[in-house]
Amino acid sequence: AAATARQLRVRRRQPGFVLAEARHGGYLVAYASGLPLRPSTSWWKDLTTQLPGNVTAEYPGRTFALTEILVRPSWRRQGIGRALHDLILDGRAEERATLTVPPDAAAAQAAFRSWGWRRLARTRGQGPDVPVLDVLLTGLPLCR
Ligand SMILES: CC(C)(COP(=O)(O)OP(=O)(O)OC[C@H]1O[C@@H](n2cnc3c(N)ncnc32)[C@H](O)[C@@H]1OP(=O)(O)O)[C@@H](O)C(=O)NCCC(=O)NCCS
Repeated sequence: AAATARQLRVRRRQPGFVLAEARHGGYLVAYASGLPLRPSTSWWKDLTTQLPGNVTAEYPGRTFALTEILVRPSWRRQGIGRALHDLILDGRAEERATLTVPPDAAAAQAAFRSWGWRRLARTRGQGPDVPVLDVLLTGLPLCR
């Protein structure tokens, strides 16, 4: 949780950071956030297998990263995740979007698949205790 809070503090200062919330009264039910990858991003640096340079090349307008999406457990399966996902991604000018998700996060894996995402690679992440994550990709604009 401390690492997540630190990461959020860093990310929210970066250009183009966006965050969407779902509230019930004042109560935070869900949120999603993201930001465009910078040309110097380390997003593609720790992959378990190398991808072609033309896939990982970043330039302005190339890739938007959906960095977090979380719905409180008792509010899941009501379309809130989908709504926040679409709110963040609809109308974006980038060519594609990416996110990372743990291989064993069954609900998220199923949700992303049904929303059109595909697994592109796996990443080791930085640090010794960071688990391997799947790197997913979808084209923009979203097609449904
Ligand atoms: C992933 C997550 C955001 C989805 O939010 P949600 O509000 O439940 O999603 P929606 O209701 O919009 O859509 C869910 C769709 O995804 C799939 N899905 C979601 N949970 C599922 C589950 N437990 N089993 C199978 N499919 C599931 C289904 O296709 C579902 O559509 P349906 O309800 O019409 O069948 C939510 O499960 C979550 O917060 N998970 C924990 C955090 C996380 O892992 N985030 C991703 C990594 S950053």
